[in-house]
Amino acid sequence: MLTTGPRGTKDILPDSCGYWQYVEQTIREVCRSFAYQEIRTPVFEHTELFLRGIGETTDIVEKEMYTFADRGKRSITLRPENTAAVVRAYLEHKLYAGPQPTKLFYIGPMFRYDRPQAGRYRQFHQFGIEVLGAKGPAVDAEIISLAVRFFNKLGLNDLKLFINSVGCPECRPVYRAKLQEFFRDKVPNLCADCQSRFDRNPMRILDCKNETCTTHSQGAPHMVDCLCEECTSHFNGLKELLTAAGINFVTNPRLVRGLDYYTKTAFEIQYAPLGAQSAVCGGGRYDGLVAECGGQPTPGIGFAIGIERVLLALEKQALLPVITSAVDVFVAPLGIKTQAAAFKLLTELRQAGITADMDFMDRSLKAQMKYANKYPAKFVALIGEDELEQDKVMLKNMETGSQELINRAELVHMITEGMEK
Ligand code: HAM
Repeated sequence: MLTTGPRGTKDILPDSCGYWQYVEQTIREVCRSFAYQEIRTPVFEHTELFLRGIGETTDIVEKEMYTFADRGKRSITLRPENTAAVVRAYLEHKLYAGPQPTKLFYIGPMFRYDRPQAGRYRQFHQFGIEVLGAKGPAVDAEIISLAVRFFNKLGLNDLKLFINSVGCPECRPVYRAKLQEFFRDKVPNLCADCQSRFDRNPMRILDCKNETCTTHSQGAPHMVDCLCEECTSHFNGLKELLTAAGINFVTNPRLVRGLDYYTKTAFEIQYAPLGAQSAVCGGGRYDGLVAECGGQPTPGIGFAIGIERVLLALEKQALLPVITSAVDVFVAPLGIKTQAAAFKLLTELRQAGITADMDFMDRSLKAQMKYANKYPAKFVALIGEDELEQDKVMLKNMETGSQELINRAELVHMITEGMEK
């Protein structure tokens, strides 16, 4: 127990942190170029926020939340997603009072008690976007194009974008009734989950992965055929904009997202080689969520991308960057008497902005050279007792193998010059 982390969690070890930083840097660059600002919300919130925000009949709320009572007996939940929390922060800090729309992005861990497998974890990380205050389809197209830009920038091109409209409170009840009509005599044949979904959330039956449910939902009516005028024109507007921007998409009338707050646009981006967990991005519009959380009716839209899945995709395509742990200088003290001088030198090098390390293991000269090669180090600065006495350093260029005895005071200058060459 003490030497194994909880199921569904992963340590991100030093040799992969560079890949994470690369993806995070790409996120920041793309968001900057689309004029989005970062927001960081806490990893836990009042449970009520997610019950109201995500919906009490969703799998996330019913089965997947990490909920506990804190010492003050308040019910707290580790965030399973971040849209509800961003909306809470938007209201709490009156971000609506600033220039609109509010365009935000976030990067951070989320927690769901899911069944762990490749690409599905209990602690995972999302890069997400939320735009509050804009209602037209142009903003739907903008966030989709941001997601596509992000994937393309990483070199991932083989993606499929699926879009659908899940309607609004005006047209959805009509569709819901039609769907119940369609499924009514099929209920006994559906899985236990879908039997309970029939009354509470029949659209989720369309999303069930159970084979029998998939078979029985063949021929079910489509939401897009029941949309009200406003939802139809919004959906057509989005398709037109995506086409104009050269973004390929497939309309998937069965696309129902696992969160209840969606209205109108719902979309998913899949990367097929990831197999069962191929959804790398999911999002949609949530025009009712701000009001549900106690604010004035305000439109909203966003998406979230699973960073672990992006990294799996990059690995599969051999697109991970080469990460180097190279240092400019390795300071090699020879003998305990030279340690203080070596440490002083190390400090000066670092103060001059040079990446430097030194031996902390009392290694022999041979072992220090071998160790310096592992980074690799560009230079090794040797200080033996002779060098110490003469106030000199033996500087070895590890690329060329040449070495020269130089004055200690000249070291920083020589390294800076040597690196510029
Ligand atoms: P979601 O579809 O639940 O949406 O999650 C978005 C993405 O997070 C998924 O497509 C997947 O890449 C990743 N993901 C979800 N669960 C896991 C898991 N257990 N392990 C690894 N990756 C996972 C949302 O979370 C919404 N908040 C998105 C949104 C933002 N809609 C509007 N704004």
